[in-house]
Amino acid sequence: MSEPARRRRLHIKTYGCQMNVYDSERMADVLRPLGYEAVDAPDDADLVVLNTCHIRERAAEKVYSELGRLKEIRAERLAAGGARSTIVVAGCVAQAQGAEIMARQPAVDLVVGPQAYHRLPELIARAHRATEGRGGERLAADFAPQAKFDALAGPLAADRAPTGPTAFLTVQEGCDKFCSFCVVPYTRGAEWSRPVAQVVAEAEQLAARGVREVTLLGQNVNAYDGQDDGEGGEDGAPSTLARLARRLAGVPGLARIRYTTSHPRDMTPDLIAAHRDVDALMPYLHLPVQSGSDRVLRAMNRGHKAADYVALVERIRAARPDIALSGDFIVGFPGETEAEFAATLALVEAVNYASAFSFKYSPRPGTPAAALPGQVDEAVKAERLARLNALLEAQRAAFAAGLVGRTLPVLLEKPGRHPGQVIGRSPYLQAVWVEGPASLIGEIAPVRIEQAGPNSLTGVLVAEAAAPRRVPEPA
Ligand code: SAH
Ligand code: SF4
Ligand code: F3S
Repeated sequence: MSEPARRRRLHIKTYGCQMNVYDSERMADVLRPLGYEAVDAPDDADLVVLNTCHIRERAAEKVYSELGRLKEIRAERLAAGGARSTIVVAGCVAQAQGAEIMARQPAVDLVVGPQAYHRLPELIARAHRATEGRGGERLAADFAPQAKFDALAGPLAADRAPTGPTAFLTVQEGCDKFCSFCVVPYTRGAEWSRPVAQVVAEAEQLAARGVREVTLLGQNVNAYDGQDDGEGGEDGAPSTLARLARRLAGVPGLARIRYTTSHPRDMTPDLIAAHRDVDALMPYLHLPVQSGSDRVLRAMNRGHKAADYVALVERIRAARPDIALSGDFIVGFPGETEAEFAATLALVEAVNYASAFSFKYSPRPGTPAAALPGQVDEAVKAERLARLNALLEAQRAAFAAGLVGRTLPVLLEKPGRHPGQVIGRSPYLQAVWVEGPASLIGEIAPVRIEQAGPNSLTGVLVAEAAAPRRVPEPA
C-alpha cells in the first residue's frame, strides 16, 4: 500500500444467520489494512455496514428503519462539524433489492452483495467518487464465490483479530434446492464448496489462535463437495462433509466440530457413520424439516416425505443414540389445512427435538410460493405457531431435564455475568453456567449438571478422574 493507513472507525451491524456473522468478520478483515478499527456504535463511525437478511419480511423491513436512523446520525455528525460517514448495505437484502435500496434511501453510498466482499476497499473508493459526483460504481451484486474465498483466505486470515475458543468457518455457500418459499438460492447463488486445503489451512490458523471448536457453515453444508487435495487419502476428487470432518478432527488443538445447516436429502450414510466414528463431531444436528405433511412438503419442493425424514432420524440415532436433534418449521404455508398442520405436530411427537426454530410463513418476492392461492390468515398462523411452540418447548425442557445429575464435558467460552462465573457449551449446544476461574476459558471441563432452566443449564465443576455417579440418598 502506498500511503500509510489513517485510523478510521468501522461499525458493522449483523442480521440473519451465522454465515452473516462470519461474513461480517471477513469484511472487517479486508478493511483492517485500510486503518479501519471496529467500534460498537454507529454514532461515531466513519463507515457503517449493515449486513442484512432477506429471509422473512420483518428481517428485510428492519433494514429500512435502520437506514433512516443512520441518515439522521450522519446529519447530526455533519452539523457538529464531523466528517461525512459512509453507509454501506451488504448481505442478502443488498443482493435481492440493490436498486430498490438505492431508490428508497438515497443516503446509501454503496450496496454490496455477499459475493463481492473481497472488493470492498475498491468499491468504497468508487462509491466516494460517485458521492462527489465524479461517477463510479455504487452497486455490486456479482456471483463470484471462488474469487471471494481465494481473496479472503491466506495472509488476511492469518492477520485476524483473536477470537474466543469457538469460531465459525464457512465451507460452502449457496443453494440449489429452490424450496418454493425461500429467497436464499437467489441471494446466495448456486452451491459452491471451498477446496479442502483452504478449509484445513483456515482451521489450523484458528486452532493456532486458541480456537477449540469450529462450526462449519453452509446454506446446505452437508452438500459440501470441495476439491480434495490428496492429503486425506483422496486425490483431487470432490470431498464430502464426512471426509472433511475426519480430516479436521486431526488438526492439533481442535477438539470439537459442528456443522450447520443440513438438508435431509444430503444426509448421506458416510456422514451418519462419521457421527458414530468421529469423537470430535458433536452429538447435535440441526436438520430442518419445515412440515410434517406430504402435500405441503411437495408444494415446498423439499424432495422428501415426512416418513423419509423420520426414518432418516432413526438411522442417525442408531449411529449416535444420544444425538440432540434440532429443526426448523414453517406454519401457515399457502393452503395448509388444520389436518396438515396436525401432521407437523405428529412428526414433532415422533421425532422428539432437543431444540427448534419455528416461523410463520412469510411470502417473499420472487419465490413461487408467494404466488400460490390459499395464503393463510395471520391469526391462524399465529395460533398454529403457538401450539407448535408449546410442544417444542415441552420437548426441549424434557431433554434438558434429562441431563440433570449427569456429568458432561463443557467447553468454557467466556466470563459469566458475575465474577467467579464462567459460561460454556454442552456437547448438545446448550449454554452452561458454572462457578470457576476465568483461567478455565478455552478448557473442556467435566461439569455435573445441577439445574435446567429455560435458556441454559447450571452445573458444578467436578474433578477430572472422579466423575461420580449419583448415590441415592438413604430413605
Ligand atoms: N438452508 C437452511 C435454512 C435456510 S433459512 C435449510 O435449508 O434448512 C432458515 C429457515 O428459515 C428455514 O429453514 C425456514 O424454516 C425458514 N424460512 C425460510 N424462508 C421462509 C419464509 N419465506 N417464511 C418463513 N420462514 C422461512
Ligand atoms: Fe432455502 Fe431450501 Fe435452500 Fe434451505 S434448502 S436455503 S430452505 S431453498
Ligand atoms: Fe438471511 Fe441470507 Fe442468511 S437471507 S438467513 S442472511 S443466507
